[in-house]
Amino acid sequence: MTTIFITGGAGFIGSHLTQELLKQGTQVISIDNFNDYYDQNLKEKNYELVKQTAKEVNTFYKLYRGDIRDKELIEKIFAENKIDGVVSLAANAGVRPSIENPSFYVDVNLMGLTNLLEACRFHDVKSFVFISSSSVYGNNKKVPFSEKDAVDNPISPYAATKKAGELLCYTYHSLFTMNIACLRYFTVYGPRQRPDLAINKFTRLILEGQPIPMYGDGGTSRDYTYISDIVTGTIQALNYVIQKDKLIYDIFNLGGSHPIILRELINIIAQTIKKEPIIQQLPMQPGDVNTTYSDFSHAKKILNYQPKIEIKEGIAKFVGWYIQEVFSHVN
Ligand SMILES: NC(=O)c1ccc[n+]([C@@H]2O[C@H](COP(=O)([O-])OP(=O)(O)OC[C@H]3O[C@@H](n4cnc5c(N)ncnc54)[C@H](O)[C@@H]3O)[C@@H](O)[C@H]2O)c1
Repeated sequence: MTTIFITGGAGFIGSHLTQELLKQGTQVISIDNFNDYYDQNLKEKNYELVKQTAKEVNTFYKLYRGDIRDKELIEKIFAENKIDGVVSLAANAGVRPSIENPSFYVDVNLMGLTNLLEACRFHDVKSFVFISSSSVYGNNKKVPFSEKDAVDNPISPYAATKKAGELLCYTYHSLFTMNIACLRYFTVYGPRQRPDLAINKFTRLILEGQPIPMYGDGGTSRDYTYISDIVTGTIQALNYVIQKDKLIYDIFNLGGSHPIILRELINIIAQTIKKEPIIQQLPMQPGDVNTTYSDFSHAKKILNYQPKIEIKEGIAKFVGWYIQEVFSHVN
């Protein structure tokens, strides 16, 4: 039976990925430090849901509470478990806070990543999926963004750590014959989305009748990807790097290829909630890119990745979840 080590397993994407792997009969070991970047109770709830799934499907699951920067703990985890592959999700994930505290981002996103790659090196774990981000494209002028485009101009420390992470992965692939896929996620949303991200925040503010801060003229756009599509794409990449007959280093865009402008996003959420939004226009924020737009043809060709959930359907699912699981409990 395959055992996968997932870092950031109590987070938004990590918890969904873990549940899906468990349902497919894959054993999961994970680590999370339950940091306070957002409400830690939400991570505890994610962890409870994952434990429940593991019980229901009767598949082995274990979570270590700790930090990926803790070398001794990482070494202990690799020594205690026979790991077949790693998905590296644990990171400091916000763009704007990275401008306030760049060294913390470098520390977690790169020193933490190095610890994982080193553990793979010494424990002969050959399959690794590194979670990168569309932010590496910076303000790329050419759309849609292709993995072949140069990504030498990240405009936030967060984006720079993701690009540097991809480079570090290449080095380990090249020196230690590791199979590595770097996945550039394009804004991921769905139930349990991080509360600092736009869809979650706007839903809350509209429901509470509070103004929505709209940075710039509302003309910026994002390519949104629904959580189940991201999970499927990530598992496809994992299966790809686990194969033994090929040496792999590859980078894949995982997006939806349908950028939505901010004003339209607000309207879709408001129409779903059936409530008029109050918009407060504010200046553009440094570090924010103007647009993200994925060309996912490479992932489609190699991984068979094909996102299924379009934005209106995804927003309806998110809002339904939010009202039932969050809003009705606090109001
Ligand atoms: N959500 C998106 O739209 C998006 C887009 C592109 C890339 N990503 C990347 O996907 C990954 C997961 O994002 P998410 O939205 O699920 O975020 P999240 O914050 O919900 O999940 C990350 C988890 O990692 C844990 N963590 C952070 N630092 C850690 C450390 N030092 N040691 C152990 N655990 C640690 C956190 O407690 C959290 O539970 C991140 O690498 C992020 O950069 C996310």
